[in-house]
Amino acid sequence: MQESLTMKKLFALAAFGASLAIAPVVAHADDDAIVLHRQSVMEGIGAGMGTVVCVLKKQCDLPQKVVIRQAKTMHFLAKMNLEAFRAKTEGPLGVKTTALPKIWSDWADYEKDNKEMVEATEGLIKAAASSIEPQSLGPAVQALGKVCKECHDDFREKH
Ligand code: HEC
Repeated sequence: MQESLTMKKLFALAAFGASLAIAPVVAHADDDAIVLHRQSVMEGIGAGMGTVVCVLKKQCDLPQKVVIRQAKTMHFLAKMNLEAFRAKTEGPLGVKTTALPKIWSDWADYEKDNKEMVEATEGLIKAAASSIEPQSLGPAVQALGKVCKECHDDFREKH
């Protein structure tokens, strides 16, 4: 039983290897990992934004301390985001990316946009710490949303 499973695994591996060998372009495994990493950082920020907007619209009833923690996580991820994008990735890639090459040719601008996101998440932490009512949370979420859009407009393929 054990043996036949192992054999099955070996055959599967062999088939996988063969499929790689006949693939028309060989993707850069490291670059793929870099793309997946930076996308997961962005997804984390996106998920945080979803939660905060849900609280703002009063569709999610979360305690204030959870909202503060969420804002802190977004702040941490925003700082991490700069490093996640620092390495220039070049095709052919095995994974889909919407990042524009302009990120690396205009790195100073990209860095500036990222800094604005770091500052806007700081603003979100402060706002949430003061109150999670719309008059406090609203302007901070709006300011952050503007920063997301600005960078996506400049550095991300339209999709
Ligand atoms: C400094 C620039 C910059 C800022 C600021 C920024 N993003 Fe992004 N974001 C990008 C780039 C570039 C991509 C494309 C990454 C790729 O496909 O390799 C991206 C992709 C994404 C994705 C898709 C990830 C995936 O799985 O493909 C989400 C979701 C996202 N961003 C959410 C946000 C939110 C929400 C904010 C604001 C809180 C934000 N981003 C702020 C540059 C930025």
